[in-house]
Amino acid sequence: MPTRDERATVVSAAPAAGAVSGRIEIESLTKVFNGRVRAVDQLSFTVEPGSVTGFLGPNGAGKTTTLRMILGLVRPTAGRATIGGRPYHRIPDPMHVVGAALEASSFHPARTARNHLRILCAAAHLPDRRADEVLDLVGLRDAARRKVRGYSMGMRQRLGLAATLLGDPQVLILDEPANGLDPEGIRWLRGFFLHLAGEGRTVLISSHQLAEVQEFADRVVILSQGRLVRAGSIDELTAGTGSVVVAAPEADRLAAELAQAGLRVLSAGPEGLRVATADAARVGHLAFAAGVELHELRVERFDLEQLFFSLTEGQFPGAQLPAGPPPGALSAPAPPGGFGSPTPQGGAPWSA
Ligand SMILES: Nc1ncnc2c1ncn2[C@@H]1O[C@H](COP(=O)(O)OP(=O)(O)OP(=O)(O)O)[C@@H](O)[C@H]1O
Ligand SMILES: [Mg+2]
Repeated sequence: MPTRDERATVVSAAPAAGAVSGRIEIESLTKVFNGRVRAVDQLSFTVEPGSVTGFLGPNGAGKTTTLRMILGLVRPTAGRATIGGRPYHRIPDPMHVVGAALEASSFHPARTARNHLRILCAAAHLPDRRADEVLDLVGLRDAARRKVRGYSMGMRQRLGLAATLLGDPQVLILDEPANGLDPEGIRWLRGFFLHLAGEGRTVLISSHQLAEVQEFADRVVILSQGRLVRAGSIDELTAGTGSVVVAAPEADRLAAELAQAGLRVLSAGPEGLRVATADAARVGHLAFAAGVELHELRVERFDLEQLFFSLTEGQFPGAQLPAGPPPGALSAPAPPGGFGSPTPQGGAPWSA
């Protein structure tokens, strides 16, 4: 009998029926490290071609682990991940299908960017000129003959991105590509991703920063503690959408009236309803016309920022440091018995 791990990787060679080229599908993907760290937990979502999808979650949420499973670098404990209907290791000529950069890639420091890429070209049977083409694409033409040792962090990020583009892949998977980029670099990256998505490619980028994802992506998948929290378009998930919350003693009757008027009731309880509209006046008017008494009527906007803040709050809290001395105190001689004196316990002031 196959073990749980083996069952998870039993796959067919052909793409699944109805598979869409360039679509990434994640189904009940789970990874448990060392039998106890549940890094990814029953995760399911789909990434469509022609869009930039942000994969968002706080530190330790399981983003890198998920991307590694998509790329066949980590074996799932359960579930599956496919690209165009195939698991990564069944994709013929994967370099032409998927370009991926996981963390700040390692480069040989004494090699030039151009040589680094030419070596990758040779391995993938691509012509040398492809190295220059991708260096142009990422704006590194002028630095192409410089040794990578002298590259700044942002330049290394661009070089990593250039390497992913060599095979002209349909799918791009990038782990925190904006790390180390200055605002100009981030703006460039945004235009670049939009251009790639505009060509019908699939672009999946992870980030632990909401602002970054809002800048780049048109869709977002939010992860927390290995689990899916929310997925959808940024427009759907930000303030444009909202619902009307109504408190009414005759909630059932009101629900029937609203449904008759074509409004969708999202949830109902004995004392109130949540309605899929941001038009409180319409709900109020329908209640009034039906003679239903209302105790509360308000619009609740979905706030992506608040949601993300609530996910990150309290994760990995740092030690509580004592308030620092006033400016200049460090260089000034400490007054006797003043802020230069040891703590009463004699220990480090920041130890918990
Ligand atoms: N090889 C491993 N062995 C054991 N635990 C691991 C391993 N890789 C990841 N983990 C654990 O899995 C969890 C998810 O880690 P992961 O790197 O996927 O998070 P992340 O969302 O990419 O975080 P970050 O934003 O910090 O990059 C963490 O608790 C991490 O410690
Ligand atoms: Mg990570």
